[in-house]
Amino acid sequence: MRLDRLWLTDFRSYAAAEIEFAPGLTALLGANGEGKTNLVEAIAYLATLTSFRGAPNEALVRAGADLAILRAEGEREGRALLIEAELRPTGRGRVLVNRQRLARARDLLGALRVIVFAPDDLELVKGGPAGRRDYLDDVLVSRRPSLDPLRSDLDRILRQRNTLLKQSGGRLTPEIESTLTVWDAKFVDVAERLATERARLVDELGPVLSSTYEEVAGRDVEVVARYEAPWREQGLAAALAAVRRDEIRRGVSLVGPHRDELLLALDGLPSRTHASQGEQRSLALALRLASHHVVTAATGSPPILVLDDVFSELDDDRSAALLRHLPAGQTVLTSAAGLPPGARPELVLQVAGRSVSRP
Ligand SMILES: Nc1ncnc2c1ncn2[C@@H]1O[C@H](COP(=O)(O)OP(=O)(O)OP(=O)(O)O)[C@@H](O)[C@H]1O
Ligand SMILES: [Mg+2]
Repeated sequence: MRLDRLWLTDFRSYAAAEIEFAPGLTALLGANGEGKTNLVEAIAYLATLTSFRGAPNEALVRAGADLAILRAEGEREGRALLIEAELRPTGRGRVLVNRQRLARARDLLGALRVIVFAPDDLELVKGGPAGRRDYLDDVLVSRRPSLDPLRSDLDRILRQRNTLLKQSGGRLTPEIESTLTVWDAKFVDVAERLATERARLVDELGPVLSSTYEEVAGRDVEVVARYEAPWREQGLAAALAAVRRDEIRRGVSLVGPHRDELLLALDGLPSRTHASQGEQRSLALALRLASHHVVTAATGSPPILVLDDVFSELDDDRSAALLRHLPAGQTVLTSAAGLPPGARPELVLQVAGRSVSRP
C-alpha cells in the first residue's frame, strides 16, 4: 500500500493543492497554523471517512465553500489505486475508487489504511475508557472493514435501548419488559461478538506492545494489556437480568461492551493513574506502533504511518529511538520545529501560505 500523490480542493485551509509523497519517509515542515495537520487529516480521512481530530465535516470543508474534494493516487497490492471523495458540510458525498462509484461511502474502508499518532493521543492512556475502546475498534475495522457494521449496530441498539429505558419512567410494565426482551436478544448477539473480537485483539497486542514500548522508551518494563469485561463471565443475558431493576430505575444501559475497559499497566501499576506524563506518552506511541504491527500482520502490507507533531513532545533520546524503529512502509511526519535530529527523509516539503512546495 502506497500513497504517491494527493490533491485537495477546498479542504480545510487549502483552496487547491497538490502534494507528492515518497515511498519511505516524507517530512512536512512549516510554522504553526500553516496547514500541516490539515494535510495529514486529509490522508487519514480517506482511510476512515472521519477526521482523526474528531472534527465534523462542516469544519473540513473550506470556510465559504460547499464541497471539498480529495483525490489520491497510489498503489495497492501491486495495482494502481485512485480514490476520489467528496465531502459536504452536512456529510459525505460521492466516493469513487478507480473511477467506479461506490454504492456506499463506507465501502471505501480498507482501500487505504492509515495509523495516526498525534499529541492528543496522550489521552489514550490518560483519559477515560471510551478512548481506549475506540482505539480497539479502530484497529479491528482497519484490519477487517467488514467489522464496521458491528460497531455501528452496537451504537444504534444502545441508543434505542436507552430511549426505551428512559421511556419506562422507572416502571417495569409488561409492555416495556417484552420490548426490552426483543432488544436484548440483538444487544447480546452484537455485544458478545464485538467483545470477543476486542479481547482477541488485546491478546495479540500484548506481546507486541511490550516490544514497541521498549523501542520508544528504551526501557524493558513489563507492559500488561488486559480487556476487562466483567459481564463476560456469566454472559450478557444473565448480567442484564441481574441489573434490570437498576437499569429501569436509572434509565441507562449499565452493562455491556460500551462500559468495558482496556487496562494498561507498566510494571504492575495502572498507567492511567500511576504512570508519569513521559511514560504515558511513550505508551500511547507504543499503542499506535503496536496497532501498525498487528494490521501489517493481518493484511500483509504496512499501513501508512502518520506522526503529527510528535517529535516536539519527545526528548532527544526518545525521538532518536522512534526514528530508528520506524516500521517498514510509508511514513509521513509533520514538524513545526524543523527536521527532528536523526531524521533522514526521502522527501522534505515546506508548508506555508496555504500551499506546499519543495524547499
Ligand atoms: N474549514 C476551514 N476553512 C479555512 N481554514 C481552515 C479551516 N479549518 C482550519 N483552517 C485553518 O487551518 C489552519 C490550521 O491548520 P493546521 O491545523 O493544519 O496547522 P498546523 O500547520 O498543523 O499547525 P501546528 O503546527 O500549530 O499544529 C488554521 O489557520 C485554521 O484557521
Ligand atoms: Mg498541527
